[in-house]
Amino acid sequence: MQLNHTLHPLTIVSQQSDAATTYADFAKDITNGLNQTPKKLSSRWFYDAKGSKLFQQIMDMPEYYLTRCEFDLLNEHKQAMASQFGKEGFFHLIDLGAGDAMKTKVLIRELTATGQNFEYVPVDISVDAMQELTEDLHEEMPAVLAQAVVGEYFDALKWLQENKSARKVVLFLGSNVGNFETQESINFLKSIRSYLQPGDKLLLGADLRKDPETIIDAYNDAAGITAEFNLNLLERMNRELGANFNLQAFQHYALYDPQEGVMKSYLVSRTDQQVDIHATGQSYTFKAWEAIHTESSHKYTLQQIQELGKVCGFNTETVFMEKNQYFADVLFTVD
Ligand code: AVJ
Repeated sequence: MQLNHTLHPLTIVSQQSDAATTYADFAKDITNGLNQTPKKLSSRWFYDAKGSKLFQQIMDMPEYYLTRCEFDLLNEHKQAMASQFGKEGFFHLIDLGAGDAMKTKVLIRELTATGQNFEYVPVDISVDAMQELTEDLHEEMPAVLAQAVVGEYFDALKWLQENKSARKVVLFLGSNVGNFETQESINFLKSIRSYLQPGDKLLLGADLRKDPETIIDAYNDAAGITAEFNLNLLERMNRELGANFNLQAFQHYALYDPQEGVMKSYLVSRTDQQVDIHATGQSYTFKAWEAIHTESSHKYTLQQIQELGKVCGFNTETVFMEKNQYFADVLFTVD
């Protein structure tokens, strides 16, 4: 489907608010997770309209250093990045999970200012976000060639393979890779690699190991926004699946394992209780202080992130870090 509602085209290859599929996937996935011992729910379900808004607020919290660090990093290294991206001529700049492209715009401005020849291709599961970004780019940088793609990452990459034949520079920023378990991240990066050709590049954002206190604070902001974000998963089940979670009877709990380098988030049941989910006809019992695992956010050593790239078929070209060495954007090449 093509929606030509501004100068920049927007293509929908698959859609999350294609409600029937999401609803079925959601119901199936939560059923699977809640029937396991110990119970778990996938962090991929955080981002409904309310969850996306809460995540925007998290990024503004003083404790949540990740976004600011990567923003600083991009500003610090944009000249080098732009020239490394552009030195072999025209390319597609593919931004996986673009959102409002707040960080990517730093690069786009630099690429434009230095006269690089490129097309910006933001990819996101949210139609609303891509429509807004399309309009915003049209107003703010009308000279930039852009084509938004709405879809799941792999539907989008497949579409790109068939429709965009020039060199590709793929961005996967924000330490979004950190939500994958190790094997999942390998599968994900190998899959990205399978859509790339020699000469293509990947810029991968990764949150680095640091003082555990700094990390734990980032997921326990004093204003309680992260708690609300986590609890929204239960609210979403109430809204979309007719569940009857009592939000007061669960609490956000997040802790950091400094050996594994993983920040783990849970929803803890404060009491013995039963919850019914109307849409699936299932009921679940919770013992007092039983926890549901809802998210893992991996923190990497530089060696780990380069090794991860290597096993997936990428070579490190440059490691970019901001001044505190809190966060890295690693530029990988394919040959
Ligand atoms: C968007 C996956 C990078 O793990 O830090 C923020 C999501 N969770 N606060 C992260 C999140 C709790 C975030 N990522």
